[in-house]
Amino acid sequence: MRANNSLEIVDFESELEVSQAIADEVVELVTVNPFAKISFPTGSTLQKTYGILRDSARLGRFSLAKAQVFLLDEYVGLPRGSIDSYLSFISREIQEPCGLPLEALHFPDVHASDLHEASEKYEDLIRVVGGMDLQILGIGSNGHIGFNEPGTPLNSRTRVAHLAPETREANARYFNGDINMVPKRCITQGLSTILSAKKILLVATGLSKAGSVSALRTSRMTESLPATALLTHGDTRIFVDRQAYGNREFFLDGSQGGLRS
Ligand code: PGA
Repeated sequence: MRANNSLEIVDFESELEVSQAIADEVVELVTVNPFAKISFPTGSTLQKTYGILRDSARLGRFSLAKAQVFLLDEYVGLPRGSIDSYLSFISREIQEPCGLPLEALHFPDVHASDLHEASEKYEDLIRVVGGMDLQILGIGSNGHIGFNEPGTPLNSRTRVAHLAPETREANARYFNGDINMVPKRCITQGLSTILSAKKILLVATGLSKAGSVSALRTSRMTESLPATALLTHGDTRIFVDRQAYGNREFFLDGSQGGLRS
């Protein structure tokens, strides 16, 4: 393991090591503060971490019984209770198996008649509880965090947003490969909402993330790479595996440059 302090990148040999390290961070936080407020992302990157947390819960070594969990984002347009919703994902992966009471799982009401009002309510809730103690993030291959796609302003709050075409393409794998089934809209915590968290851990694993990790390491803050918003946050670490970190420069379009010295 090695740390690189410009934007603190901590690199591990394997996805499993990254997952264990993130799970350790969560367990440590909840041990010190059982009432912690944590925002978990959906997606494949964190699934091993969630598996480790479930195993710990089963062995009685970890519990979210007193914690509060907040969804990072949610699709708009899926039927209530859809197994593809992010609420279903977090309920399955984390809430139920880790003993989080149902009323301690918070999410934006994507079925409200007024989605803007629903977004504001969720933003207000996050503000009222004082922000997250820990925000865990994945990263899109286009550098998005949450559903804050390229072009999102740094001062964005929780709002209705549109998924970028490349995000819908990437997420089609959860919809039998059919991009037409992937919702076009969502409610997402904004960049400034995310930055209100006390501590942020961004996780990137696998070759498909090498482009965004490479761009994140070399870029200044720019709206075209939303994850660079994290450069303004005082307590962010980026946990990567060898494939995402690599020793070549990768570009956001997936192409490779020359070897770094
Ligand atoms: P993934 O999604 O973990 O499924 O790669 C991450 C993201 O799109 O933010």
